[in-house]
Amino acid sequence: MIIAVDGSAASGKGTLAKRLAAYFDLAHLDTGALYRMVGLAALEQGLDDKNINELQAVAITSALDLSVTPDDRIRNDTVAEMASIVAAMPPVRACLLDLQRHFVAHPTAAGGAVLDGRDIGSVVLPDADYKFFVDADIDVRAERRTKELHDNGQSVMFRHVLEDMKARDQRDRNRDIAPLVATSDAIVIDTSDKDADMVLALALAHIAG
Ligand code: C5P
Repeated sequence: MIIAVDGSAASGKGTLAKRLAAYFDLAHLDTGALYRMVGLAALEQGLDDKNINELQAVAITSALDLSVTPDDRIRNDTVAEMASIVAAMPPVRACLLDLQRHFVAHPTAAGGAVLDGRDIGSVVLPDADYKFFVDADIDVRAERRTKELHDNGQSVMFRHVLEDMKARDQRDRNRDIAPLVATSDAIVIDTSDKDADMVLALALAHIAG
């Protein structure tokens, strides 16, 4: 069983993907984390679109780096912002596309997989068995992200988180390559007024048919 979960930042797509993977005992890949790894390297090494070869090399090893990099190094808004900048570069996306498809073809995903991101249902796995598109009101999402960052000990202001999120949404939805879009065969779930249990229940009801 292959499940694609796409959606905007802090929409709850990652939580849904993790819970579906646990429920059905499937492999799970948070593809946003791969773009964040490339974004982190770009920040640390001062790379931009003039260093595309270096960025490609980082993209190729991002999955390996991910397994040894502490989560808090990629879970901040500076890295998220840079992730969305490198994510608009076609050579970076091409490397990560290969990597994501290898993940699905690998024996550890033999029982099936859940991938979450922005273009899973549209580009990475267009033939997925189930596709979900998760979204929520931008104020609700910014509120959630602010709380999450506070819980992680980062002092951020709601107003700044909201502004950053709007800019990132704008870039992800309007880029030329693999923009964030709900495919016509995706089930759209608005999580503005739903908790994680309700969202999982909706997805499971759809899968049960
Ligand atoms: O999901 P997350 O917020 O961690 O993703 C960080 C950034 O990576 C997104 O804003 C987006 O620009 C990029 N991304 C992407 N395609 C994916 C997953 C993430 O372009 N499949």
